[in-house]
Amino acid sequence: MEEVKKKRMLSGIQPSGDLHLGNYLGAIKNWADRVDEYECFYFMADLHTITVRQDPAELRRRSINQLAQYIACGLDPEKNVLFLQSHVPAHSQLAWVLSCYTMFGELSRMTQFKDKSAKYSDNINSGLFTYPVLMAADILLYQADYVPVGEDQKQHVELCRDIAQRFNSVYGDVFKVPEPLINKVGARIYGLTTPGAKMSKSVPDGCVFLMDSPDDIRRKFKRAVTDSDRENCVRFDKENKPGVANLMNIYSTLTGKTMEQIEAEFAGQGYGSFKPAVGEAVIEAMRPIREEAERLIKDKAYLDDVYRKGAEAASYVAGKTLRKVYKKVGFYQL
Ligand code: TYM
Repeated sequence: MEEVKKKRMLSGIQPSGDLHLGNYLGAIKNWADRVDEYECFYFMADLHTITVRQDPAELRRRSINQLAQYIACGLDPEKNVLFLQSHVPAHSQLAWVLSCYTMFGELSRMTQFKDKSAKYSDNINSGLFTYPVLMAADILLYQADYVPVGEDQKQHVELCRDIAQRFNSVYGDVFKVPEPLINKVGARIYGLTTPGAKMSKSVPDGCVFLMDSPDDIRRKFKRAVTDSDRENCVRFDKENKPGVANLMNIYSTLTGKTMEQIEAEFAGQGYGSFKPAVGEAVIEAMRPIREEAERLIKDKAYLDDVYRKGAEAASYVAGKTLRKVYKKVGFYQL
């Protein structure tokens, strides 16, 4: 039988903080669910992290721990190419070329740049501005068909498509134009204490980390903000009950239950039963991940080996695209 070539999927997470439930439900869980269907490349975007100042020792620690957590989440290194971005120089090399095909105005419109330059107003460096160009290089090097991300990264993937189309219109079909893949539930997980803002490590009390202990998770869900009306009823209403809707979204993503089923399950019970139930579902989902990651983190030789093989496999694919690009733009080849 003729073998059907699998479509390619690629995504990455910055090791700028420990992985959290938003990263897991918005991104990694979808990756792990699709391993058999696609040829997959997943990486730790360490080059991206230095757009904001990092503690070097912490960055190193998180870069290797994040690999352990990817594997613990179900990303088998035998079936997926797992690598560290800085191990594959082609990312920086293609980023330079693409920056000459990206407009200043396009980068100025990026929401993440606006947010981050307001937040880190004492360090608005040019890397922060050209961040989406590096991200486009990450994707286009691998000729990815799909980029599974959370909602907040959609704008960057759309810019990547524009850059690819612009380049292709000059030089022919060099890049595959990728599609963002965003799930309906889980695409945006909000902070437990700030239901108006996405869950992020910068608000640790409302952020559930993959490596949190069951007690920490229990405590965080106990303090989760529900809503200010006095209805005390589990009902999906994003506008008026964002805190409850967020908890329902988390519960739904983990259990596969629909919003109607969740409403029926907690009918007449109020938030007092609902919040701990969501907490317990999270604890049970995180337990095997945490335990496996803790085991893997102790085996540094194994993790280094995965990174070494990943860099090799990624460099092979990335190198092919980079050579083609260099040739197209007119760089003299030896
Ligand atoms: P990053 O590191 O901020 O987040 C990694 C992934 O997690 C998703 N995510 C969320 N999803 C739902 N709810 C949340 N609260 C939440 N917080 C984070 C993000 O959407 C993302 O999918 N620029 C990227 C990293 C990157 C990348 C790439 C991604 C660099 N190069 C190439 C894809 C392809 C970023 O900062 O994601």
